[in-house]
Amino acid sequence: MSFFLKGDLILVRVSILERKMIEYNAPDMKRINHALKVTAFAHVIADGEKIGKRDKVLLLCAAVLHDIGIHEAEKQYNSASGQLQEKLGPAIAYQMLIGLGFTKSERERICFLIGHHHTYTIKNDILLQILFEADFIVNIDEGDFPDGTDYKMIENKNFKTKTGIDIFEKLILTDKG
Ligand SMILES: [Fe+2]
Repeated sequence: MSFFLKGDLILVRVSILERKMIEYNAPDMKRINHALKVTAFAHVIADGEKIGKRDKVLLLCAAVLHDIGIHEAEKQYNSASGQLQEKLGPAIAYQMLIGLGFTKSERERICFLIGHHHTYTIKNDILLQILFEADFIVNIDEGDFPDGTDYKMIENKNFKTKTGIDIFEKLILTDKG
């Protein structure tokens, strides 16, 4: 087994990145909490879907940094739109990923996920799908959707994994549906 695939090193690597993300976002606790929550849900869904170790570490690193472009978007454009996050996040993330033992193509894959985490038209990418689902669950919990939102419609349109659907139904539909 390669150095890269050892389980404990996966968590160490994600933890180093979480620390970098916290330092980058400090003192913005709201954004830090959001990223940590999305990472935790992505981890649970990935395990439920039996995602392999290599892909899981790429997914978790993308989850930690998925919104890393927000501050730059606010600074440069006075906006935190999803499109701007996708545009500005990957370059910031790429620098943060250097020194963690990833190959160039692994860094690029993580940056692809970050750069498309609001592009719901992309299908058949299981890691991106899990990232969408984890982000949706946390965004709903954080109050991003108005009263009267049709959560069943959100589920039907955006949730594809068995684990994500199960979590969504238990957490969101029983509470708000
Ligand atoms: Fe997010």
